[in-house]
Parts: sequence; C-alpha cells; structure tokens
Amino acid sequence: MSYVIDDRQTSLFQVNREVFTSKEVFDRERDLIFGSAWLYAGHESELPNRNDFRTRDVGGRPVIFTRDRHGEVRVLLNTCLHRGASLCRHPAGNAKIFTCFYHGWSYRNSGELVNVPAAEDYAGSPVEVYRRLPGPRLESYRGFYFVNFAEGAPDLRSWLGTSTYLLDLAVDQSEDGIEVLAGTHDYTLNANWKLLVENSVDGYHAKSVHHTYFEMMLELGQTPPMLGDAGTNGVPPAGIGTEFGNGHATLMYPGNGLPLATESVTRDLAALRARAVERFGESYATAVFNLARNTVFFPNFVLIDLNFGMILRTIMPLAPDRTRVSSWQITPRGLDPESLRYRIDNALTFWGPAGLATPDDVEALEQAQRGFGARREMAWSDISKGMGKRRPAANDELQMRAWWRQWNAVLTGEELPREVEEFVPFDQPAREIQGA
Ligand code: FES
Ligand SMILES: [Fe+2]
Repeated sequence: MSYVIDDRQTSLFQVNREVFTSKEVFDRERDLIFGSAWLYAGHESELPNRNDFRTRDVGGRPVIFTRDRHGEVRVLLNTCLHRGASLCRHPAGNAKIFTCFYHGWSYRNSGELVNVPAAEDYAGSPVEVYRRLPGPRLESYRGFYFVNFAEGAPDLRSWLGTSTYLLDLAVDQSEDGIEVLAGTHDYTLNANWKLLVENSVDGYHAKSVHHTYFEMMLELGQTPPMLGDAGTNGVPPAGIGTEFGNGHATLMYPGNGLPLATESVTRDLAALRARAVERFGESYATAVFNLARNTVFFPNFVLIDLNFGMILRTIMPLAPDRTRVSSWQITPRGLDPESLRYRIDNALTFWGPAGLATPDDVEALEQAQRGFGARREMAWSDISKGMGKRRPAANDELQMRAWWRQWNAVLTGEELPREVEEFVPFDQPAREIQGA
C-alpha cells in the first residue's frame, strides 16, 4: 500500500489517513524510526550539578538522563537487568546510586551494577555476569543531547547536517548560552503523533485556529507576527519554508520582537542584540533576533522561537491515536528578573496549559483524528499548499512535505527527491563563525 502521493506534474501531495490509525504502522514506526533516528534526550542545563538526573521516555524507551560523579553526561536505560523494574521512579533529583526497589540491585549513575543482595546464592556473581546497564549512543551539539538506539547510525552531526543552523540561532542569543527553565509542560492528546509534528511547522493554521490571540494583540495595539515587518535578510514578509535534508525543516518569517514589553525588557533585548552584532556581524545577528522560526528535527524534536517565548518540544507516540508531549521553555542565560518574568508570562500566554495556542491546537488535532473514522470513504489528506513554487512561504506546506518524504523513505524505502534548494537567511554559516 502506498502511504504518500508526491506528484510533481500536478503539484499534488497526499498522505493516506491509514498512517494515523494503523497499529501496524505504529509498530513499524517504533522499530524503524524511533529505533534508528537521533532522538532529543535533554539539554545540558537540566543537569547543572554532578549526580543530577532526570527520568523520561525517549522513543518509547524509559531512560535516565544524568550527569555522573565525574561530570560526564550519560543516558542509561531505566530498566533493571534483573527483571525489568524501573531503577528510578522520580522525575528528577540528585543521586550517585540507583537501587531497584523490587529486589534491591544497585547501580552507579555511570551504569555499573555494584551490588546484588544475597549474591552468594548465585553460582556466578551477577555483578560479574551482567556488569553494567547498556545505554544508547549519546552525542551532543552545543548543549543539546541526542540518543540513538541503532549501532550503525551515522554520527549526530552528519544526521543533523545544516539544520544545526537553527540550533546555533537559538544558542547564539547570548554569549552565556541558553538554559532550560525549571518545570515541564507535559500533556497527552487523543490524536496521532504525526499530526502534532505537522502542526508544529504549520503556518497556515495560525490565523484561523489562533485568531483569539491575534485579535487580542491587535486590541492591545501590537502587530501580531506574520502580519507586519518588511523583508529581513532576504526573507520576504510572507516568510519562507525550507528543508535541510533527512526530514529536518523549518518555517521562518520576519519579526521576532517582544510584544507589550516594558522599557527595561526592551533595553535588555537591545543589549543582547548589540552584543551579537559585535560577535557575529549585523546579518547573523538579524537572523538570530529578527526572524521567528518553527523547526522540526526529524522525527519528533521541535524548536520554536517566537517572540512569545522559545520552546523545545518532544512528541512521543503512545498508541496510534494517543500522544505524549513534553515541552520546555528556554531563555538566554543571565536575564534580569523582570525580563525573565516577562518571557515566562509571554510563553505561558501562548503555549501554556491554559494559553491561547496549545488547547486550540489540541482540539484541532483531536478533531482530525475523529475525522479519520471515515478514512475508508475519504482516504487522503492534502499537503500540497505552495508545491511547485520556487520559494514557498511560511504558511505553505513545504516543511511538512519534507518531513513526510523522510518518513516515507524510512517506512517504505522509497526515496522521493527534495523539492527546493535550501535557503539560509544570513551571510555566513554559523558553524564557521563558531568553529563548532
Ligand atoms: S527487578 Fe530490579 S532487582 Fe529485581
Ligand atoms: Fe498552533
């Protein structure tokens, strides 16, 4: 069965709705996608001290994201070698040793099995037989840690390719880097995970689904994003969608100010920008501070940098029609308390549990999932907007098609060529500037 129709003659792109409901597709995704791609696990700022840890699920596998006693960041499988119980049942904390609560086997936070109660009853010592917890491959880029459960995968940098630009733009907001703020926004939705991937890079829905937000901004005398601003660094007012290979894609548009900011918040932002101009030059600083962007790193890691706050998001499938989302706010390090409060407030107003975006997006996706009940009668979803344009706009759907082509390649082996040349809206690639 064909999942994706990619017709370059008629510029028609369709996805079969079966992929949002089928248990077989779900199982294959867990194996082929989450078993082979680099998956975002966490940010270095979440583990400021030795022996700090956070537990989470990555690609359906329970893991402990921890900094061991020597300061090295590690990801351990959070399952006991004995009979599988979780080694750590806390969401976060500080511990040198994890002791399984079932029969009491203990592990160092670097993974070695160090103690087995009543070890003398075993013919061969379990500590000698089992030695240590296996862990996935772990690599990082500028503080973002990713894991890979496949032995033979290419290294992280090759996988990310030029999409690292988007991570650079986030990190380079401040000389001191960025940090993940305390607290996680965790929620589930009754919809397939791929619907939220699409939604995360969907500029088309903003004015319809989020009109309440736009109306509020207009009433307050602010120009909402995507409605104002002249072109910036070659990015036209309508923005662009672009792709980076391997299914990584972004939409970008001019305008990334701080709506309703006080004078001191505005001054702080201007100081950060001025410092970036000194370090990198005007063009790159403009890309950092004056372009809003939504990016998906295939398969399920999203970085959104809008004036209402910088958000990281992971999207985990639980069942064909059920998805868990974790979301964190990141900010430049070292903001003064007023700027920090302002940014948190902005982010919560839009992205928060009772914000003006997230609940409406969830409703849209759950409604789509309901609609798939009629998938036999209406089998195909359309993702053709802007196809055939040399330079698709931010509210076209190139970025989704790029993601779907990668998804299709992994699931079916069918490689569909990319659609447009990558567009990078600043003079110099950040990696050269950084020497990273
Ligand atoms: S399952 Fe962990 S000690 Fe038995
Ligand atoms: Fe939305």
